[in-house]
Amino acid sequence: MKSAVEFKARKGKAPISMVSAYTHWEGKFLAASPVDCVLVGDSVATVVDGEPTTVAATPEIMARHTAAMARALGGQKFLIADFPLLAARKGIGPALDCAALLLRAGAHAVKIEGVDGHEDVLRHLVQSGIPVIGHLGLTPQSVHSIGYKVQGKTKEGAANLLRQAKAVEAAGCSGVVLECVPADLAAEITAAIAIPTIGIGAGAGCDGQVLVFHDMLGLNPGFSAKFVRTFADGNKLVTEGLKAYHDAVTARTFPSDRESY
Ligand code: KIV
Repeated sequence: MKSAVEFKARKGKAPISMVSAYTHWEGKFLAASPVDCVLVGDSVATVVDGEPTTVAATPEIMARHTAAMARALGGQKFLIADFPLLAARKGIGPALDCAALLLRAGAHAVKIEGVDGHEDVLRHLVQSGIPVIGHLGLTPQSVHSIGYKVQGKTKEGAANLLRQAKAVEAAGCSGVVLECVPADLAAEITAAIAIPTIGIGAGAGCDGQVLVFHDMLGLNPGFSAKFVRTFADGNKLVTEGLKAYHDAVTARTFPSDRESY
């Protein structure tokens, strides 16, 4: 999948696989994989930089990682870049500047958290030819007001999320990420809108799934969440590799003659 057009066309067809990743090195693995599309998530702030929340991600940080990822993917995968905190809340002009930065860095689309109060920004970006992906449910940039909690568990909360998903669709967005939403609600939203839903902690009824590279490869033992499945034991591999290197250096078995000039 190489574009927002192909992404939208997958609605109701084969599930879409998306990975959130940040570096050129990760991009090389993703380029060689069958994974459909890549998100340069603002989780770069927590996963790569060790910040407490994604609030620390800036437009410049997002553009730098987007450019590194775009160079690795070489246009072969649909590439989405996250809008960082408040970039959609300062009005249309600043939002266009941020979108231009991310698209010039190589993104094919931007992802924006929330909808209420910035529908006009979503609509303006879309009408400017910029594909936009929404993000509803647990929106980590709002952690200080909503916490890290499953959203839409009450009747009112569920109705509100359904309404927001319809507003994202009405604004012309190409899809929507649903984060930490009860599975039955995510399935209901998926059936109610004509754009793909991408779940993370939102059950199997979405049109696709997204996980963070480091979480799904077991590289982040300090983070656990019910929705994460580790598809490889990356932590064991790296830890054993580092120990083997140290042991070889201290035992003077590395470098060998073959590894010397
Ligand atoms: O920042 C991110 O990685 C994300 C995904 C987890 C959806 O927003």
